[in-house]
Amino acid sequence: MKRYAHIVGTGSQTPKRVLTNADIEKMVDTSDEWITSRSGIKERHIVSDNEASSDLASAAAVKALAAAGIDASAIDLIILATVTPDKPLPSTACFVQENIGAVNAAAMDIVAACSGFVYGLSLARGVVETGQANNVLVIGVEVLSRVTNWKDRNTCVLFGDGAGAAVVQGSDTPGGILGTYMKSNGSLWHLLNIPGGGYRMPIDESNMNNGSRYIQMAGPEVYKNAVRAMEEAGIEALKRTGLRGEDITLFIPHQANIRIIESTADKLDISMDKVFVNIHKYGNTSAASIPIALDEAIRSGRLKKKDKALMVAFGAGFTWGSAVVEI
Ligand code: ACO
Repeated sequence: MKRYAHIVGTGSQTPKRVLTNADIEKMVDTSDEWITSRSGIKERHIVSDNEASSDLASAAAVKALAAAGIDASAIDLIILATVTPDKPLPSTACFVQENIGAVNAAAMDIVAACSGFVYGLSLARGVVETGQANNVLVIGVEVLSRVTNWKDRNTCVLFGDGAGAAVVQGSDTPGGILGTYMKSNGSLWHLLNIPGGGYRMPIDESNMNNGSRYIQMAGPEVYKNAVRAMEEAGIEALKRTGLRGEDITLFIPHQANIRIIESTADKLDISMDKVFVNIHKYGNTSAASIPIALDEAIRSGRLKKKDKALMVAFGAGFTWGSAVVEI
């Protein structure tokens, strides 16, 4: 009997502390007008000193499990996407496993930047459809505020913290995750990266204060690649499912920049009233952006049973990908 991978519950969590554009105006030479018109962002949520990715991820996971109506012990696998893990070792997924009591789960992190959640959905679909797991928790989480240079106006206005989670469950009923697509181009890694803090360039006294430990981005080049790759990913997901733009109930793009979102929707021939946008509230939360948006879309009733959502992501690497899901 063929197995199908359905999303049966979602949850999200953002930190309490809100940093508005007015707050950032006091930190660097920028303005609410510039940030809003260039990116669509009005505010973002920022973790407190004692919060880390596993805290946000665990809270989002608990909500997703409640929405799915299953106990944590029923989870077979946790796939957690992040570029801001609690520690280099072990995986943040293992901290989440411990926090939520997913005692029967395997747990691992994946690193695909802003495409992480969509990559995770694709992997979850694979293990569910092949019968290797029945309940998979897919989480996207970031504390980008920890890797943001708050003195660099080119980047600090863009990013935020948060987590989103989805329970992917096996079923004999057709539907669920209908199609997925993943792609990378490592030759352009230098356009968006954190140079230091890994084991090629550990952070020490020599580079502590030269910006090496923070996100560095060639904004306009990233922008051009994002538009191109997100269009390709959207088209590919539709092709793989035999659907057209008009069959999609809601388009959920990675929330990096409102202009990238509008341009991608236009290229995919999807009108803006079918596009989910929450970038004004959260900024770019990388791997967390699509699952937070998915959760808000479901909880607010913009996505109902049998509706079809198209998710498209693009991020550092470069990585990009997409998924079409029947809710
Ligand atoms: N406030 C005021 N002025 C600023 C700011 C700021 N915060 N930041 C840059 N500027 C200035 C620049 O210095 C430049 O000035 P200059 O012309 O005197 O040199 C001017 O504004 C224009 O800068 P651009 O970089 O050309 O502005 P652009 O219109 O391209 O917008 C932005 C910049 C918003 C970063 C845009 O390029 C973008 O969104 N790029 C993609 C970013 C992205 O999506 N990243 C994430 C994808 S992957 C992931 O999510 C991790």
